[in-house]
Amino acid sequence: RIAGPCSMVMFGVTGDLARKKLMPAIYDLANRGLLPPGFSLVGFARRDWEDQDFAEVVREAVRENARTEFRDEVWRSLAEGFRFVSGAFDDDAAFAQLARTVAELDEDRGTGGNHAFYLSIPPSWFATVCEQLQRSGLSDPSEGTWRRVVIEKPFGHDLPSAQELNRIVEAVFPPDSVFRIDHYLGKETVQNILAFRFANQIFEPVWNGRYVDHVQITMAEDIGIGGRAGYYDTVGAARDVIQNHLLQLLALTAMEEPLSFTADAVRSEKEKVLAAVSLGEDLDTTTARGRYSPGWQGSQKVAGYVEEEGVEADRGTETYAALRLDVRSRRWAGVPFYLRTGKRLGKRVTEIAVVFRRAPHQPFSSTATEELGANAVVIRVQPDEGVTVRFGSKVPGSQMEVRDVSMDFGYGASFTESSPEAYERLILDVLLGEPPLFPRHEEVEQSWRILDPVIEHWAARDQPPQDYPAGSWGPPAADDLVRRDGREWRLP
Ligand code: BG6
Repeated sequence: RIAGPCSMVMFGVTGDLARKKLMPAIYDLANRGLLPPGFSLVGFARRDWEDQDFAEVVREAVRENARTEFRDEVWRSLAEGFRFVSGAFDDDAAFAQLARTVAELDEDRGTGGNHAFYLSIPPSWFATVCEQLQRSGLSDPSEGTWRRVVIEKPFGHDLPSAQELNRIVEAVFPPDSVFRIDHYLGKETVQNILAFRFANQIFEPVWNGRYVDHVQITMAEDIGIGGRAGYYDTVGAARDVIQNHLLQLLALTAMEEPLSFTADAVRSEKEKVLAAVSLGEDLDTTTARGRYSPGWQGSQKVAGYVEEEGVEADRGTETYAALRLDVRSRRWAGVPFYLRTGKRLGKRVTEIAVVFRRAPHQPFSSTATEELGANAVVIRVQPDEGVTVRFGSKVPGSQMEVRDVSMDFGYGASFTESSPEAYERLILDVLLGEPPLFPRHEEVEQSWRILDPVIEHWAARDQPPQDYPAGSWGPPAADDLVRRDGREWRLP
């Protein structure tokens, strides 16, 4: 679907996210013909730029990071709708100027009074910007038009701050006009989890504690923190990605079938399963954290976390986190969900592995089945997108020997359609007013409820996170966490 007449106002246009993801996504949408003809992009920042300077910055971002080919005619027509407003977030005059700019766009480019405000800025500024939008009349749609606000994580740093943030944003914008971005939900493979589970008959009957032994959700990155110490060092792995991406993956894996695919139906089921998630009783044995030390990534020697520019070692920020969670429901009683994430691990891979119990009886001799692992369904979120089913099979020959094999579905081999980048899909959904892929504040709050005790527990301990060498698979404490339960992490 093509979005109707509208514009997007972007706060934080000088940031990393805007350059790497948002601006390229807007160009890619235009290139695919999914933006309305008069679509306009208004940048707002302190820089002393003219419209042309802003256009130059966007052009560079597009050149560097867009996924589709650069086409002059698409670029020219998109760039005609670029405007820039210079000012600080607490500058009333700048917001008055922004209101005039937006009104002119309605007049000159037919944006129809429909405007999305994208807050790609530190959360400490959310309140100020929302209040400014309200005061300048920008948050207030006239009859038949819409105003929407898009907010980027982190949605607070714990439950009380998330609640406060929500109060601030929803005091200005009604709940159905607030779009919280969790870019994992924009990924094709993540949206496929519900199709995989609920469009088929063969998986759902075994998707429960009677057949499933445990679930492992892994988000491993090979990169370090790059130039993001200013953000990352005050946040850490658990807040950065477990609170949002990993708990969303858990929710989609464990939730019940929604009544329909409407936003409310899907989000209510996610919220329900998150509300059923509980931590282990002893957080010393059911959580683990680590911090990368110098090591090798491929053939490259890389620095340890505390040597990275801008990191304060005393903060004890974790770059690796693992948790064991339980879902208190009839379906999942007794099935641990192990979550782990880290920077500078062996490779970049995100996957959900549903590992099944062993067959209750093996009619094969024990030597024949020695090598036999447990059956598993592995949803490969990235980078090698697809699904693997692992099972035992007879090894050709005169013996009845059984060995693990796998059956693979890969996107590349099965589809000719290419997947849109997560941000493309999400930005288009904002402009279309389609909320299913945006978490509601109740989900955000449930996630903090789950995580807060872990972070408090870690903060109360006097020890820094355990070291793990860059390029390895995390600290020993994470292995101990699963071994205590008689299990092992998969090596993706
Ligand atoms: C972001 C985190 O939300 O996700 C980053 O803040 C992380 O630290 C990134 O690197 C990973 O996203 P992706 O899509 O590359 O898996």
